[in-house]
Amino acid sequence: MNEHYAVIGNPIAHSKSPEIHREFAASLGQTISYAQRLAPLDGFAESVRTFVAAGGKGANVTVPFKIEAVALATKKSENARRAGAANALKFEGDEIYAENFDGVGLVTDLQKNMGVVLKGKRILILGAGGAARGAILPLLDAQPDVVVVANRTLTTGLALAEQFFGYGNIEAAAPEGLRARFDVVINSTSASLDGVCPEFAPKVLTADSVAYEMVYGKGLTPFLKVAQAAGVRTLADGVGMLVEQAAHAYHWWRGVRPQTGSVVAMMKVPLI
Ligand code: ATR
Repeated sequence: MNEHYAVIGNPIAHSKSPEIHREFAASLGQTISYAQRLAPLDGFAESVRTFVAAGGKGANVTVPFKIEAVALATKKSENARRAGAANALKFEGDEIYAENFDGVGLVTDLQKNMGVVLKGKRILILGAGGAARGAILPLLDAQPDVVVVANRTLTTGLALAEQFFGYGNIEAAAPEGLRARFDVVINSTSASLDGVCPEFAPKVLTADSVAYEMVYGKGLTPFLKVAQAAGVRTLADGVGMLVEQAAHAYHWWRGVRPQTGSVVAMMKVPLI
């Protein structure tokens, strides 16, 4: 049976989700329909209702509706509740289930695709917005030594870290004041979209650090250039995270986990 899925956002034309989910379905020999749905900025709930009435089974949610998506849901996962945002919805009867797979997508990409062991490691997250919020719980679940949130606005970083006290060892710090080295440095800020590198002390990086840019498809972003200049050998952008979060959603909706390797390879933009 041809089941209906969609990605809902505004704007939406740039979304790679249809391409990824169609590849998953084809590789599994399944037939699904997966469309882009542009919701009016003040019409997210209505757009979801229309989609469900038309037989929609599940949806990805993207900017700017991730917070509204969690509010709309009748059942929320721990990840979605803690992140205060959802990037996937599932519709069953009258229930709307909300999940947030962004963070697990990141952790899966680091651990499975890149072979990075996070247990016992020192992780630095630059930024304290929605992207950081979604990543923290899955990162803490991987039992690192510490997760440090370094945000341009220190108070926002502190408030975010405080929300996750009790889930693992998490701290907040000022990005320019950092002294210690980190095994993994993740840029979750939106600075790359403006073509700039968030300010931070480059001495946090060593040749053995992993520099991970959450933005995808932009090649060597200013953050990755700074990391490269600091001698970092392992640079990554968010393509693996994007594909892995999609695979988690596909599994959640359809009970079968697609292979991701060929799709990551297909979506990859060289880091040059
Ligand atoms: P997203 O949902 O993509 O995370 P967001 O919630 O608007 O977007 O958060 C953007 C994050 O990037 C914030 O942490 C922001 O820092 P502030 O809290 O100080 O605003 C950070 N950010 C954006 N541009 C930045 C820049 N040029 N340098 C450093 N941090 C930046």
